[in-house]
Amino acid sequence: MGKGKLAKFADMASYPHVFEYPYSVVDEVPFDMKGRWHEDFFRNDHPIVLELGCGRGEYTVGLARLYPDKNFIGVDIKGARMWTGATEALREGLPNVAFLRTNIEIIDRFFAEGEVAEIWLTFSDPQMKKVTKRLTSTFFMTRYRRFLQDRGRIHLKTDSNFLFTYTEYMVEKNGLPLEFSTRDLYHSTWAEHPDTEEARILNIRTYYEQQWLDRGLDIKYMRFLLPQAGELAEPEVEIELDEYRSYNRSKRSGLSTAK
Ligand SMILES: C[S@@+](CC[C@H](N)C(=O)[O-])C[C@H]1O[C@@H](n2cnc3c(N)ncnc32)[C@H](O)[C@@H]1O
Repeated sequence: MGKGKLAKFADMASYPHVFEYPYSVVDEVPFDMKGRWHEDFFRNDHPIVLELGCGRGEYTVGLARLYPDKNFIGVDIKGARMWTGATEALREGLPNVAFLRTNIEIIDRFFAEGEVAEIWLTFSDPQMKKVTKRLTSTFFMTRYRRFLQDRGRIHLKTDSNFLFTYTEYMVEKNGLPLEFSTRDLYHSTWAEHPDTEEARILNIRTYYEQQWLDRGLDIKYMRFLLPQAGELAEPEVEIELDEYRSYNRSKRSGLSTAK
């Protein structure tokens, strides 16, 4: 039988590579490792990569296996989900993995200027109702800039047409350098070359990804850079809602698009 939530929480509290600082805690207990992840935890100077909204941490652990010369930190507020990746990393003795349980809204309290090289956003909630909750909105991008290196890389892998389209507009409006983009990952050309590095990375499947694939949805992926220079502006566009998520809500509100 699987472990219950309480047993998972107890494990998490004892794991040396798990840091738990939700809103309710961080004001009382200062986070001393801001700007010191390399020296105090990883004990190397390898690039740090975050997976925001990591759930079970499939990308955090999967990428850590592929890239021993990079450091990975999975971030999520849900401890019971994170336990899966945290436990796997511990069992395998992966020295380049950590997990941070917190609210992404306060992510800039945990990392200093230039401390992070890349960010992965994996199957993030599209947050169709509220722009400021979307992980690729100016609200969050402004926070990412506080700790991401200049022209740091952001990866977005999603089922959501809404979030993907919104992010495309965001990238276009702000002239962010777009490195790669596909609306149908598993039927695009890279998939025909499974031995490539790109294929090995993109073939990592998360829990939510598998659910959406089972429902026949296309998986979308893009990768862009976030320069430090310039003011970030929100795209003022109407985007069609994802039917399969918003059906009930949009019926009630009568809305079929959102900004
Ligand atoms: C749809 S799930 C995706 C999980 C995982 N990446 C996957 O693909 O299976 C979104 C995850 O983001 C987390 N999340 C959403 N908003 C968050 C926030 N503001 N702060 C921390 N975690 C958040 C949720 O707890 C959830 O685990």
